[in-house]
Amino acid sequence: MDKIALIVGARPNFMKIAPIDREFSKRGIETLLIHTGQHYDANMSDVFFEDLNMRLPDVHLNVGSGSHATQTAKIMIEFEKVCAEHTFAMVIVVGDVNSTIACTIVAKKLGIPVAHVEAGLRSFDRDMPEEINRILTDSISDLLLTPSLDGNHNLKNEGISENKIKFVGNIMIDSLYDALDRVKGSDINPAKKLNLEIYSVVTLHRPSNVDVEIKVNQLTSHLVNISHKIPIVFPMHPRTKNTFERFGKLALLENEPTIHLLEPLGYLEFVSLLGSSTIVITDSGGLQEETTSLGIPCLTLRENTERPITITEGTNQLVSDLTILQTLVDTVLTNDRQVAPQKPMFWDGKTAERIVNSVVSFLER
Ligand code: UD1
Repeated sequence: MDKIALIVGARPNFMKIAPIDREFSKRGIETLLIHTGQHYDANMSDVFFEDLNMRLPDVHLNVGSGSHATQTAKIMIEFEKVCAEHTFAMVIVVGDVNSTIACTIVAKKLGIPVAHVEAGLRSFDRDMPEEINRILTDSISDLLLTPSLDGNHNLKNEGISENKIKFVGNIMIDSLYDALDRVKGSDINPAKKLNLEIYSVVTLHRPSNVDVEIKVNQLTSHLVNISHKIPIVFPMHPRTKNTFERFGKLALLENEPTIHLLEPLGYLEFVSLLGSSTIVITDSGGLQEETTSLGIPCLTLRENTERPITITEGTNQLVSDLTILQTLVDTVLTNDRQVAPQKPMFWDGKTAERIVNSVVSFLER
């Protein structure tokens, strides 16, 4: 069998590809690991390879930041060169970032089959760049590997043939379980170093929250008030740090003794921080799933989610109106009822096996 190309580019890709790469290697199937360089800071990229027990990329495209068009175009140009140098049986892309759509277009135009892991998720909000990436990637991929059955439903509604769609489960949970095992009993949790027993975790990076001045102002005052009820640990994405600084709010957060701003954390540090937290406030996609899996209440600062199962079966709540954020936090904090960890179907740590089974049977057809 020819090699299989595995694409990583941005932070949330690494934990999805690591278990898939390991499973291929276990079965003696050759892969080429390609890093587009969409994320390039050491703490947004390099640290994940170590934390996920992941081998270093075979090829690095070093594209870096830019506008959506620049970034996507640069990835396409560089990835096409890699495709010319190798013969791939298939290209596997994950998630919904610019690297996902860029490599999908290139592969398909060269006649290479594409498998999309995390297919079928839809927020139905076409103002989100990720929604455009999801729709386009799914519409031309050959094998659509879904994390939950709503994904199958969305794809069928878009007219995609049922025999392309395989429900395999949530690959993030494979890495989550693995990391939880590895951090058990360790001192890696940054909250320990801060002497925090009870704390909330905040992460924000969506342009719709952090690139809009009025939102940044509102968020700052809500976070300060919330931190007086429960200390906040806030590992800041570089985009977020830049815009909070530009809008003159960074110093305010830094000077608040109950808010602990950190650099972006490695995966093991983050999982450890998350695992012992009381409540999470976020706009991330992956965190909605991880909190559901751990039974931790999650308030998602978005108007919609492409992961509705985290609401219907999990611990997630959408907060589209920031003025009710503090009330929702109060409700969580006064509710003694422990939330049991949820296990939506196939969020069981065995998704990599099902993905590789599906890829092998696709290639043996
Ligand atoms: C990207 C994904 C988003 C994902 C997020 C996770 C797209 C369209 N968006 O958003 O879906 O949830 O990654 O983090 O692909 N920067 C650095 N260092 C880095 C990376 C970025 O300083 O290593 C800064 C740059 O100023 C850059 C900005 O952050 O312009 C945004 O990075 P970019 O990759 O364009 O998008 P994200 O906001 O990270």
